[in-house]
Amino acid sequence: MSQTVSINVTVNGKRYERQVEPRLLLSDFLRYELGLTGTHVGCEHGVCGTCTVLFDGQPVRSCLMFTPQANGHEIMTVEGLGTIEKLHPLQEAFWEAHGAQCGFCTPGMMMSVLPFLQENKNPTDEEIREVVAGNLCRCTGYQHIIDAVRLAAQKMSAGEQVGERR
Ligand code: FES
Ligand code: FES
Repeated sequence: MSQTVSINVTVNGKRYERQVEPRLLLSDFLRYELGLTGTHVGCEHGVCGTCTVLFDGQPVRSCLMFTPQANGHEIMTVEGLGTIEKLHPLQEAFWEAHGAQCGFCTPGMMMSVLPFLQENKNPTDEEIREVVAGNLCRCTGYQHIIDAVRLAAQKMSAGEQVGERR
C-alpha cells in the first residue's frame, strides 16, 4: 500500500480534507479527486499554461505542483468564476468577443488574466499581449483573446462602479 499524506485545502471557497499520495499532481487532484474538469491539462510540463489556477490569488501551473504543496492554501479554478446563470464578466467577455475557439486553452487563459485585470483597470493591448503570452492557444486566434480581455477590463470596471463585487 502506498503512503499517503493528509491535506486540507480550500478550493473555490469550499474546504476539502483528503488523504493523497505525495506525488499526486495538483492538476490531477482537481480533475480526478474533486471532479473540477474545467482545469485542462495539455503539456504536463509547465509550458502551455492550460492548467493554470490561482494559488492564494496568484496564477500557478497546477501540473507543476504536488497536491500536498496546496495544504493550508486557497485554490481557485475556472469553476469558481461564475455560474451558467450568472457568468463572471470575464466569461461574458470571452463569449461576446469570441475569445474561445475550441476552448481548450480558455480556462487557463482566464485564470492567468483575472488577477491582472483586478490590478489593471485599463490595460493597454501591449500589456494584455504580455499577460496572455504565457498561455499557448493552439487555435492561434490571439486577436480575439486580446479583444476579450480588453472587453473584460471594461466590464469589470463598469461593475465596480455600480458596486458589484468581481
Ligand atoms: S499542462 Fe500545465 S503548463 Fe501545460
Ligand atoms: S481556443 Fe483552442 S487552444 Fe485556444
